[in-house]
Amino acid sequence: MVEFALPADSRIVGGKTFKAQAGVTNMRIFKIYRFNPDSGENPRLDTFEVDMDGCGVKVLDALNKIKNEIDSTLTYRRSCREGICGSCAMNIDGVNTLACLKPIEDIKGVVKIYPLPHLPMVKDLVPDLTVPYAQYHSIEPWLQTSSAVPTDGERLQSEEERSRLDGLWECILCFCCQTSCPSYWWNGERFLGPAILLQAYRWIADSRDEAAGDRLDDLDDPFRLYRCHTIMNCTNTCPKDLNPGQAIGKIKAALFKRL
Ligand code: SF4
Ligand code: SF4
Ligand code: FES
Repeated sequence: MVEFALPADSRIVGGKTFKAQAGVTNMRIFKIYRFNPDSGENPRLDTFEVDMDGCGVKVLDALNKIKNEIDSTLTYRRSCREGICGSCAMNIDGVNTLACLKPIEDIKGVVKIYPLPHLPMVKDLVPDLTVPYAQYHSIEPWLQTSSAVPTDGERLQSEEERSRLDGLWECILCFCCQTSCPSYWWNGERFLGPAILLQAYRWIADSRDEAAGDRLDDLDDPFRLYRCHTIMNCTNTCPKDLNPGQAIGKIKAALFKRL
C-alpha cells in the first residue's frame, strides 16, 4: 500500500496569543497562519484579539491593523486595496478570495486566515508564485501578428469582436481559482490551471491576434489542458465573478471544431 507522509514542517502547531487591551468591548478574534522558513520551526496558528473600533470593514483592514499595532512581523502581499492588483489573495474562512474585498462582517465567529493552498511558501501568507508565473509566460500573453500593420497604424475591432474579450480581460491573476482546483493541486507542474487557461483563451478570442492556431497547438496536450475535469471550483471561487471553467470549455470546443 502506498504511504503518504507530510514533511515535518507542514504540521501546524499552536501559536502565540495576542490579547486585546483591557476594556476593549468591540473585539473580533483572528487566527492567522504563520510560517518563517528561516526559523526551522513548524508553521503555527497565531491568535489576535483585535479592537474593531477604528478598524476598516474589510479583512485587509484588520491585517493592516494587526501589522501596524500588534505584530509588525506579520507578512502578506497587498497593494491596491481595491480588488485590482490581485496581490492580497488568500484563504479566508475556508474560501480563496481577496482580503481587500472580503467584508469582516460576512464571517461568523473566529476569522481564520491561511495562505492560498497547495503552493510552496515564502513566509506567513505569502506563497511562492514562481511556477504559475512561468506557466503564464509559457502561453505568450501578448498580441502576435504576421500581417503588416495597417497604414492607419491601428488594428481595429468591431464592437462585437471587442465584446468577445468581456469576462476575460478583467482577470487580475490573483490565482484564487488556480489554487482551488484539485487537478492543479495534484498536477501543478504540468497542468496549466484555470487562471492560465483563461488567459490563454483571452488571446485566442482576440480578433487582432493571428496566432490562434499555434496557441491551440500548444494547449492540445493531455496535461496542459486536459487535466481539467470540469469540477468548477475555479468558477465558484473567482472574486471577480469570472468563469475560467467556461473559458477552458471554449478552448476544448475550438480544438474539437478543427479536428
Ligand atoms: S473546472 Fe477545471 S480548472 Fe476549474 S476547478 Fe475544475 S478541474 Fe480545475
Ligand atoms: S479568473 Fe478570477 S480567480 Fe482566477 S486568476 Fe483571474 S481573477 Fe483570479
Ligand atoms: S490589495 Fe490589490 S486586490 Fe487586494
